[in-house]
Amino acid sequence: MALDVEALLDRVYERLRPLSKEVDCAIACISGGVDSTTSAVIAKRVLGDKVHGVFIDTGFMRAGEGERVREALRGLIDIEVYDFSEEFISRVEGLEDAEEKRKAFRDLFYTAVKRVASEKGCSWVVQGTIKADVIETLRGIKTQHNVLTEGLLKRYELRVIEPLVDLYKHEVRALAKHLGLPSWLINRQPFPGPGLLVRVVGRVYREKLELVRRLTTLVEERLSGKGVSQYFPAVWEHSVVGAGEERGIVYEVHGVKVTGVVEGRRSYGHPLVVRKVPEGVDIYNLYKEFNTTTHPHVLVEVESRDSGRYVVAIRAVLTQDFMTANVAKLSIDELKHLAREIMSLEPSVKMVAYDITPKPPATIEYE
Ligand code: XMP
Repeated sequence: MALDVEALLDRVYERLRPLSKEVDCAIACISGGVDSTTSAVIAKRVLGDKVHGVFIDTGFMRAGEGERVREALRGLIDIEVYDFSEEFISRVEGLEDAEEKRKAFRDLFYTAVKRVASEKGCSWVVQGTIKADVIETLRGIKTQHNVLTEGLLKRYELRVIEPLVDLYKHEVRALAKHLGLPSWLINRQPFPGPGLLVRVVGRVYREKLELVRRLTTLVEERLSGKGVSQYFPAVWEHSVVGAGEERGIVYEVHGVKVTGVVEGRRSYGHPLVVRKVPEGVDIYNLYKEFNTTTHPHVLVEVESRDSGRYVVAIRAVLTQDFMTANVAKLSIDELKHLAREIMSLEPSVKMVAYDITPKPPATIEYE
C-alpha cells in the first residue's frame, strides 16, 4: 500500500503542536543523518525560532562532517557546530567493551548536549530517535545513545522532543522528501549515533580511530551507488585466539569481541575469519557452517600479507528496516580491488575481510 505522507506528517505535527506553548527554547541535535535532520526541520516548522540547530562534533564523526552538513542545510535550518572531539576521545581512550563504550558515549553526549542547551538557556532537546532505536534498546541488543529513560532525563535535566519516535526509516525518508531535504541526505546510509567509536572494534586509541576515519571515506566512495543499504569498514587488531579446518574450510578466530542477535537476544563473541575454501563453495552460505552464537560475525578473507597489525572488516548489507539484513553479494573481483587499494594506501593493514553474516545472527555493526 502506498504511504500517505500528508497523513503521516499531519500525525507528527499534531503530536508536536501541544508542545508549542510549553517549550520556550530547544536545541535540535543534527548529526547529518536523515532522522535527526528531518526531526529538526519538523520541530522548526512547528516551534519556529525557539529551535536552534546544533551539530555536536563528538570526534567520532566522518571526516569534514560538521561543515558538510551545515552547508547542505543552509536555507532549511541554521546549524552551529560545537567541537567536543578532544573531550570525547580522551574519555573513551583505552575502553574495550562494546557496552561500556556505548554507555560512556551516551554520558558524554548528553553532558555536551546539556552544556550547549544551558548556554542557550534551553532545557528541551529535539532528537531523531525512531522506532527501531527504541525496539533494539528495549530488547537489550544495544544501548542506542539516543534512547533516554526517565532516570537519564532526570540525570541530565533535559526534556526531549522526538517527532519521529513511532516511525520506521522508510517513513522518515518519505517525510524528508516531502519536506524538501536534499536527496543525497535522504538516501544517505544510516550512521550510528556513537559513530566511528563502534567501528573501532575493541580497544579505542587514536591511531586506530584515524585509520577507521580514512577508510570510511574510501569505502563509502567505492561502494556508493551500488544499491547497498549500508556499507562501511570496521577495524580491529589481528590477534588469533583459535584456528582450525573443517571439510577443507580453513579458518581463524580473532581475539576481539563483536555483537550479534540470537533469538532476539544479544550475543557477544569472537569473530571468525575463513581463510581458505574448497573450489566451488558458495562463500555467502559459509556462515551456516559455524556456531554463530559464539562467533556472531563470520567473515571471509579477501587479501592478507605478513606485515601490518590491523584487520579491516568490510560490511555491506541490504535491508528495509535495519532490524534484519542480508549481505550484499559483491563480486570477488570488486572486493579484491577494494582490498588491494586499502592495502596499498594503508601499510598498517594486515588483512581485509568481507563480512558474510546476515542479521540475525549478526548485527549490522560490530559493537
Ligand atoms: P545493529 O548494529 O544493531 O544496527 O544491527 C542497526 C542499525 O542501527 C544503526 N545503529 C545506531 N543508530 N544510534 C543510532 O542512531 C546507535 O547507537 C546505533 N547503533 C547502531 C546501525 O548503523 C544500523 O543502521
